[in-house]
Amino acid sequence: MNLSVIILAAGAGTRMRSSKSKVLHELAGIPMVEHVYNTSNSLGANKILMVYGHGGDALINRCEHFNVDWKLQEKQLGTAHAVQQASTTIDDDSVALILYGDVPLTKMETLETLVNDVSHNNISLLTVTLDDPTGYGRIVRENNSTSNKVLSIVEHKDASDEIKKIKEVNTGILAIKGSYLNECLNRIGNNNSQGEYYLTDIIELAVNDGNKIFTTQVTNAYEVEGVNDRKQLARLERIYQQGMADIIMNNGVSLADPKRIDIRGELSVGIDSFIDINCLFEGKVSIGSNVTIGAGCIIKNTTIADNSVIKAYSVIEDSIIDEHCEVGPFTRLRPGAHLKNNSRVGNFVEMKNTKLGENSKASHLSYLGDSDIGKNVNIGAGTITCNYDGANKFKTIIKDGAFIGSDTQLIAPVTVGTNATIGAGTTVTKDVEDNTLSLSRSSQRTIKGWQRPTKKQ
Ligand code: UD1
Ligand code: CA
Repeated sequence: MNLSVIILAAGAGTRMRSSKSKVLHELAGIPMVEHVYNTSNSLGANKILMVYGHGGDALINRCEHFNVDWKLQEKQLGTAHAVQQASTTIDDDSVALILYGDVPLTKMETLETLVNDVSHNNISLLTVTLDDPTGYGRIVRENNSTSNKVLSIVEHKDASDEIKKIKEVNTGILAIKGSYLNECLNRIGNNNSQGEYYLTDIIELAVNDGNKIFTTQVTNAYEVEGVNDRKQLARLERIYQQGMADIIMNNGVSLADPKRIDIRGELSVGIDSFIDINCLFEGKVSIGSNVTIGAGCIIKNTTIADNSVIKAYSVIEDSIIDEHCEVGPFTRLRPGAHLKNNSRVGNFVEMKNTKLGENSKASHLSYLGDSDIGKNVNIGAGTITCNYDGANKFKTIIKDGAFIGSDTQLIAPVTVGTNATIGAGTTVTKDVEDNTLSLSRSSQRTIKGWQRPTKKQ
């Protein structure tokens, strides 16, 4: 099937009270409109047309990575007028699917049904039944029966009291044959209470042309819910997060509280892992089996292998953690940190572009940057790799079995040899040979009768 998706995103979105386009407001870390774009792609759209309005430069810049044709609708004269801006690029032999940039949570499967229906008729419509249909276009059917033939859609503002009682409403989402869309658009007028070109008028036209309108009803109203203000956006965010939490739990993972996890990207977790409260996952995170993630961790674009433990309040980005490792509490792993099997980093340790070998430990208060640390190494508390001279970065190499005493500064580039020992408080400026002890502190002096300075009057 040749599928074209038209995404309408030209509305002003005044109720957001925002200086940016409504559809750029984020849900699960990406703009609402990106959810719609992603769904269009997973449907296999051949073409995606994005109808945008005034001040759209920021929108186009933010969506630079989209593979879409941008269509400017200079004045918002109604949904049919919006579709018309894109229709010149709709092939007659295609199926056009109309979506909305502010309706982010429609499921791909729901749309697939709708689109497939168009193979044997001209139009299929997505509807939903709401307890409170106020504001929506009503689906008018023959003899007012929900199983009967659709006759028209009447907008709330144009509806009689009788029609206002109808609870089945138009979601706005519809699929239509390209040729039929192109033919109908010119026939739609704006003779209604809002003086707008209503896309919904296409239904009555189609009925008069002798078409039967197919409908699909969604059961989850959130799938077709549009965002008009920040409260609605926050509500949809929670629904989305609950859905993500359900998927993870169904896959054999325990969550301390499914209401207190946020996934902004793709998270995969193996069985019997446990995630404590208030963790945030961003980008692509892959966690193995039997892993524990403590409370309040923020983990982005990272792989964590089986049986590792991440303790509370660790912040981890672009890192790799192998099996049986222990991280945190309060550890910061920056891009390029790689912990090999059985290694441990503790509180207030920051690592960047650094490999920590098997069975090695940095348990307290350290900065390890641009380093290659071997196996069975002990990094004492307060060890700092001085990797930066203000202009360039240099590498520190610490070989297997080395013992770095507390409060050591390693002035890179520098290498500490196998099984070498560095005494506490040492500033290492030269390479250290294997199996040696290096110290740079002066011997302790004692001055008797020393008086502390006193404050001058
Ligand atoms: C529309 C439907 C209504 C349906 C409701 C579902 C019409 C005439 N009515 O009403 O039957 O129940 O959606 O939410 O279609 N837009 C443009 N350009 C325009 C006008 C709108 O891009 O000129 C976009 C808006 O950004 C928005 C969407 O189309 O995303 C819907 O427009 P809106 O004016 O909110 O339509 P409703 O009155 O809600
Ligand atoms: Ca609306």
